[in-house]
Amino acid sequence: MARLTGLLLVLIIASSCGKDLKNIRHEKRKFPEGFLFGTATSSYQVEGAWHDDGIVVSASWHEPETENDIVAAEDANQFEWGQYAHPIFSESGDFPAVMKERVAAKSAEQGFLRSRLPEFTPEEIDMIKGSSDFFGLNHYTSSLIVRNESVNGYHISPSYYDDIGVIMYKSNTWEDIGSPWLKVVPEGFYKLLTKIREDYGNPTVFVTENGCMQMTAGLEDDTRVSFYKRYLEAMLDAMDDGSDVQVYTAWSLMDNFEWMQGYNDRFGLYEVNFSIPERTRTARKSAYFYKELIRTKELDMHYEPDMSVPMTIDEGH
Ligand SMILES: *[C@@H]1O[C@H](CO)[C@@H](O)[C@H](O)[C@H]1NC(C)=O
Ligand SMILES: *[C@@H]1O[C@H](CO)[C@@H](O)[C@H](O)[C@H]1NC(C)=O
Repeated sequence: MARLTGLLLVLIIASSCGKDLKNIRHEKRKFPEGFLFGTATSSYQVEGAWHDDGIVVSASWHEPETENDIVAAEDANQFEWGQYAHPIFSESGDFPAVMKERVAAKSAEQGFLRSRLPEFTPEEIDMIKGSSDFFGLNHYTSSLIVRNESVNGYHISPSYYDDIGVIMYKSNTWEDIGSPWLKVVPEGFYKLLTKIREDYGNPTVFVTENGCMQMTAGLEDDTRVSFYKRYLEAMLDAMDDGSDVQVYTAWSLMDNFEWMQGYNDRFGLYEVNFSIPERTRTARKSAYFYKELIRTKELDMHYEPDMSVPMTIDEGH
């Protein structure tokens, strides 16, 4: 049993999701026996589970703009989520080497007497290593990474972004759902799961958050359904390659308070009517889709629910 119970605050500032499914490779795909789905993720994020201790890492995928940016993109991955994952899940423990090196070098340039990055003691490195029973993963989107001359003086200094030393932006080829930060990039999810498997000895992964927003009310959320289908497909691809993903929880069961975006960004499988005191909840198309996914443990790329049938909780559930 692990010693560390952790919570990384996940700032979910979430928007809207709609595109046809392109290049369907599988009409239907089964999930493994025992695979678990959910939507209520907070207990896992805060406490692990009744028999597991874990931690959640919020990770986006950083994709190199060109072959010249492979190192830069790796640095961005190590800074953004490797700083939490590497001490716990890597064989050597401790912060990622590149993070220690870059922050120390920048600190020296800036006249600091020692690195701004605190150091773990050898005892702390040992204590933290292997201290989570599972890799909790919150994932939504990707960024493109470039390191060219424009990065000099681009970020204020000293700063976290100056330490990374890259420019991050969103590809205009990625599906835009109206959010400045959440572009639909299922292949980024696949690459992230692959990297977690390869870098950390294939830890058990619980996907504790994944989903997308819409900016206005509405029950026919085809964009969200498409998002879920494509991200689940990417996840199944990684599982086919050997990734040990055992749990998937959708963000979110219903529209909720999304931090700085307030109630504008609606992530819910269920719509909440915030204008009336009853806060009425109504199943969206995605709720029907998700229910069918859980019922059949099968991703059906063509499932079209009959939304005139009221949403019910089936017997035995
Ligand atoms: C650096 O890359 C960005 C993003 O592609 C580009 O806009 C900028 O012009 C590049 N700068 C240089 C000096 O090449
Ligand atoms: C919320 O409820 C009110 C009163 O029933 C209704 O007029 C309004 O259209 C509802 N809003 C949404 C987004 O469903």
